[in-house]
Amino acid sequence: MSTVVVYKSKYGSTKQYAEWIAEELGCEALDAKKVKIDDLEKYDTIVYGGGLYAEVINGVILLTKNMDKLEGKKLIVYSTGITPLKYSEYYDKLVIEKNFKPEMLEKIKVYNFLGKMILDELTIVHRTALKTLKKIMQGKENPTEMEKLLVELCDANGDFSDREAIKDLVEYAKQ
Ligand SMILES: Cc1cc2nc3c(=O)[nH]c(=O)nc-3n(C[C@H](O)[C@H](O)[C@H](O)COP(=O)(O)O)c2cc1C
Repeated sequence: MSTVVVYKSKYGSTKQYAEWIAEELGCEALDAKKVKIDDLEKYDTIVYGGGLYAEVINGVILLTKNMDKLEGKKLIVYSTGITPLKYSEYYDKLVIEKNFKPEMLEKIKVYNFLGKMILDELTIVHRTALKTLKKIMQGKENPTEMEKLLVELCDANGDFSDREAIKDLVEYAKQ
């Protein structure tokens, strides 16, 4: 059984999880920038990780656009984000619906972990995007709970990564 972890990471959070997972599984962690879909042919189990950016799992289309080529493989996706895990509705609805067609979820097992966002490290483009999002949300007359949450998250600052969180994923990958 050969396994690989592929990750796309802008600020290092998803990469950190990829290294932890690869260490537990005794396999390689590869940067998605250097991976083409045909390179994955030789693996039985593929773990893909990407950070969340406006609910999109960074680069996950590498898998979702190539489901035909990945037929018969064990596929696992994890995302990292800063939305507190208690807001599972956010993840289960918004994120899942945005990234996967329902039939894909029969073939891909999805996990979400807390990542990091250090405001001083962000690019100007990302900082501006967060400022704009915050302004839009604050301008709403009757904001929903989700919109209130988004305003809060724009100011989140810290590393919430947790190695313990990978346990279930690792166990499933080993099965
Ligand atoms: C512009 C921007 C948009 C983001 N959008 C989301 C989001 O929709 N949901 C979320 O939970 N986290 C969001 N985040 C936080 C990142 O997903 C988080 O920092 C993640 O750990 C980054 O992973 P990476 O450094 O491996 O790319 C966003 C961060 C930025 C800078």
